[in-house]
This record gives sequence, structure tokens and C-alpha cells, in this order.
Amino acid sequence: MLRKSEHPEQREVLEPIVVHPEKVGKQTGVVKVATPDAFTYGPKGVELPKYDPESFPESDRVKIPKESTFIDHDGLLYSVAVDLKRGKVPMMWGPSGVGKTQLARHMAFLMQVPFERIPLGETSEREDVTGHYELKGSTTEWVQSRLARSFGRPGVICIDEWNAAPPAVLHVARPVLDDSAQLALDAYDGRILLKHEHNFVIATGNPDWMPQYAGLLPLSEADADRLSHISVGWPETVIEAEILLNHIKSRDLDRVPAWQVVCGLMAWQDLRSNIDDGSLGITAGTRSLMNFVELLQYHPVREAMSKVYERMDSQSFSKVMHVLDHHNWDKYQNPTATDLIAESEDPIVELLSRISEEGDDVG
Ligand SMILES: Nc1ncnc2c1ncn2[C@@H]1O[C@H](COP(=O)(O)OP(=O)(O)OP(=O)(O)O)[C@@H](O)[C@H]1O
Ligand SMILES: [Mg+2]
Repeated sequence: MLRKSEHPEQREVLEPIVVHPEKVGKQTGVVKVATPDAFTYGPKGVELPKYDPESFPESDRVKIPKESTFIDHDGLLYSVAVDLKRGKVPMMWGPSGVGKTQLARHMAFLMQVPFERIPLGETSEREDVTGHYELKGSTTEWVQSRLARSFGRPGVICIDEWNAAPPAVLHVARPVLDDSAQLALDAYDGRILLKHEHNFVIATGNPDWMPQYAGLLPLSEADADRLSHISVGWPETVIEAEILLNHIKSRDLDRVPAWQVVCGLMAWQDLRSNIDDGSLGITAGTRSLMNFVELLQYHPVREAMSKVYERMDSQSFSKVMHVLDHHNWDKYQNPTATDLIAESEDPIVELLSRISEEGDDVG
């Protein structure tokens, strides 16, 4: 639906409608993100808006994360916050399961705004970005995409696997990356959506240069140039130990020996060095390690590992299983990880102190 121009001499020229940002949500203050080195909020920290979740309509409110288990590492939180502050789209690159999507969700948690995850991939279509017409009775109606709807409201939009989408999709989505902060819906009636000043877009992608993501096309120069790139690596052991202990506690995995958590941390390091030197084309992010540790509650070690990795060619799988044999998993059954958490003043330090002992056992 085009509106006739108001200008008397252009009476017949049809102008596209401009859709202004919506007035939803009430900002109550700011959230401060500290620089990674200082740990306290200093002059170089950044401030992002903080909203009152109750001020959103229910359809938005249910998308505001109520809690977040994300643990920052390598200054990622600060890097992302700075990009958002500057109006840039951060693009997080990293292997599967290292917390990229989790970090985007965490930003929404900090600001208490709706989190919208738009997964892109080989099968994505342009309509996923813009919207589509739907036949309703005898008329067709335009159904707005989630991305387009969210664009004019406070929120975090996480465009997941940006680089996996077909070129036609990237083409319509490209303006989302621009400073112009507009999205034109050509397929609708050319209307122009203006972005809400507190709508933040975050993109993620798996590195096309890693062999396990063969098939992904490199990002076009045009897209790459618009984004602010952040590389997300394997988390440090101390971070991962904390993530694992938190998970064990929240799921009450009371049968997992603390010792096997140590072995798990070490085994994943071995897997990663094989991945990094190109000899193993699998992925070994924190997600798979958490999954493995959770399975130890129910299965013996080898079976737990099969559940995580028995999906690949037999050569890779036997390499994975070989990594297991480097560790003496049954050395201690006690304490369990939950006992360690309950009894120790600093369970993470305690857990990590066992790693040196574990090293003696590698055979
Ligand atoms: N830093 C972290 N803090 C807390 N949990 C984490 C962290 N990193 C990873 N995890 C855990 O690992 C899971 C996977 O993380 P996430 O889905 O964000 O990975 P991803 O990098 O987006 O992977 P993919 O490329 O497959 O989409 C999360 O659900 C979370 O439980
Ligand atoms: Mg993800």
C-alpha cells in the first residue's frame, strides 16, 4: 500500500511508507560493562541501556532472558558491548559450542530486552529476513518476519550462522549490517523500517576456513567489511571448569566423580590440539564437553563418549576413543563433583589442582 505524496506538484508520485520505531519498553537506567583488565567499571567501561521487563507487552516479555549462565572469557563481553555501543554489528567467529549464541543471549539478559535468534542456513529464504504474503480467506496479507518485527523495538537480534545463508538471503539482510539502520521491505510495498535506537544486531558464524565447516562460503568482502569481527576460541580450562561445575550443580548430577570431570577437561584439550593441527575434523566445544559430563551420570565413560561422537567416520571415531585411553578414568570414584562443590571452599581451584596429578598418569 503506497501513499500518495503530499507535495502538490508530485501528486501522482507514490512514496513508500516509513515505519518509525515503536514506543514499547521503558528504559530504567544503564548496565555497565567493565573492561576485561580492570574487573571494575573504570573510565574505559561502556554503558548500555537497561529496561524494565515489566514495561513490555507479554509477547515481548516472554523473550527476555530471566537468567543467564554465561561466563565471560577473553574479554568477549566487553568487545561485544563496545561494538553495540558504536552501532556496529559484532560478528563472532568460532567453532561449534563455544558460547557464541550464549553470549548474544547474555547481552539481552544484561539489558533486560527481548532476545530474538534468527537461525540462517542453507535452507533459509529471503522471506525469513523480510516476511511473506499469506492467503487469508480471499485476501492476501503480509506476515512480518521476526527480524522485521524486532527491528523497530528494543532488543537483541542474533543472526546465527550468518555465513551459511545463500547469497540471495544475505543480499536482503545486508542493510541490517549498515549504519543507516533501515530495512526496506521491497517484497511488501517498499516500506522502510527504521531501527529502534536500542535494537542491537549480533551475528555469529562458524569459520569457513576450518575443515569441519567445509561447504561454507567465505563471507563476501562487502559483508565482511561492514561487520566488526570477534574471534571466539576454546575457553580456558579454569572457565570451562566453572561452566561444568555450574552445570553439575544445576542439574544435580550427583554420581559424576570429580576425577572424571578433570579427565574430561584434559581429554577435550587433547581433542582440541588434534583439531587445531588439522588431524581431526570434528568439533569439541564446551557444549559437547557438558553433554559428555552429563552422560557420565548415567553411562560408563566409553558409552558416554559414543553418545557424543558416534556419528562420524570410523577413523575419526577411533581417534576420539583413543584420546580416552590416555587417561586413567577410574583412578578415584570419590569425591563426586557435587560433594566437592558442597565441601570445598573453592571447588574450581581444587579441581584444577588435580590436573597436575592427572598429567602423571598419561600413559
Ligand atoms: N562461556 C560460557 N559460559 C557458559 N556456558 C557456556 C559458555 N560457552 C559455552 N557454554 C555452554 O555451551 C552451550 C553451547 O553454547 P552456544 O550455543 O552459545 O555455542 P555456539 O558457539 O553458538 O555454537 P554453534 O556454532 O554450534 O551455534 C551453551 O548452551 C552453554 O551451555
Ligand atoms: Mg550458535
